[in-house]
Amino acid sequence: MTGGTGLFISFEGIDGSGKSTQARLLAEHLRGTGREVVLTREPGGSPGAEEIRALVLQGDPERWSAETELLLFTAARRDHLERTIRPALARGATVICDRFADSTRMYQGLSRGNLRGKVDTLHALMIGVEPDLTLLIDMDPAAALSRAKSRATAEERFEDFGLPLQQKMRAGFLALAAEFADRFRIVDGNRDPEAVAQDVQATLEARP
Ligand code: ADP
Ligand code: TYD
Repeated sequence: MTGGTGLFISFEGIDGSGKSTQARLLAEHLRGTGREVVLTREPGGSPGAEEIRALVLQGDPERWSAETELLLFTAARRDHLERTIRPALARGATVICDRFADSTRMYQGLSRGNLRGKVDTLHALMIGVEPDLTLLIDMDPAAALSRAKSRATAEERFEDFGLPLQQKMRAGFLALAAEFADRFRIVDGNRDPEAVAQDVQATLEARP
């Protein structure tokens, strides 16, 4: 679908569920087997998209409308795809991406109004690519929020929305996994990082 030969893997889940940790552990594991791995993230993953990241993740929670956010996240994704993801897949690398378009379906499509139709239209028009495999790290929303809050960063625009958003997003991600059952796999994130990583590796190996 991406026109390359590499494998495209995304991690999804609520804030603090352990996506970044698991993406890094999987990258280390696969590099250990001799594969070229490009570990990347959204919003961001290319110089231009990292600039957009600062615009969307910092500042007042009401800084942008949901519609403007949708455009900014999609602009960042388009740049990331052009500059980082497509070239890596074309040379046969495995791309591991911490969040991708499913996060837009959830956060802009569900959480701040019913924009899912616009999200899907813009995705088809400007992105048109899905990961080969999406690993959903499923996690208790309150525990994930306290993990996320324990990180002191300036990127708290979304974390400021609090527990009700985390709960809504968790349910939304599980529904999305059912909607795209062919590429989604659910991993229980309520365990120590090594146990979760074992599950992630086994899930990847079990892929047809
Ligand atoms: P995300 O990328 O989903 O927001 P992170 O991987 O950044 O999550 O993890 C959030 C915080 O929780 C970090 O401080 C991380 O070290 C910690 N953490 C990650 N996975 C686990 C785990 N399985 N158990 C306990 N703490 C974890
Ligand atoms: P991220 O850095 O992955 O945060 P965390 O490690 O806490 O999960 O993502 C930052 C925030 O950006 C997160 O709250 C979700 C949000 N987001 C969107 O709203 N739309 C998107 O398309 C993406 C990729 C992220």
